[in-house]
Amino acid sequence: MQRYSLCALDELPEPGSKGFDMDLGEERVSLFVVRRDNEVHGYINSCPHTGVALEWVPDQFLDADGSFIECATHGALFTIEEGKCVSGPCAGDRLKPVRLSVDNDVIYWLVD
Ligand code: FES
Repeated sequence: MQRYSLCALDELPEPGSKGFDMDLGEERVSLFVVRRDNEVHGYINSCPHTGVALEWVPDQFLDADGSFIECATHGALFTIEEGKCVSGPCAGDRLKPVRLSVDNDVIYWLVD
């Protein structure tokens, strides 16, 4: 397993989100992390509706009150904890999760 450093935990507001474009050799992966209630969740940055990136401006993946992940294109809302779409054209679909770990206040992406 590979471990890639993403950012320090305190670079994320509570609640807050941050996006990353990672180069894995010839593959480029766009993902984001969300911090809320002292937990960190991560997903591939691709809406299950059309596959576009979710954010409306850089690092802004949450709705106005920080309760849900929101797709900027058609407004789908996803739970932060499970990435499940609860409102919008892809209701019932899920964001693809990524594995994270937090070690010494640094967030890492874990890749098999
Ligand atoms: S592309 Fe995300 S809701 Fe349509």
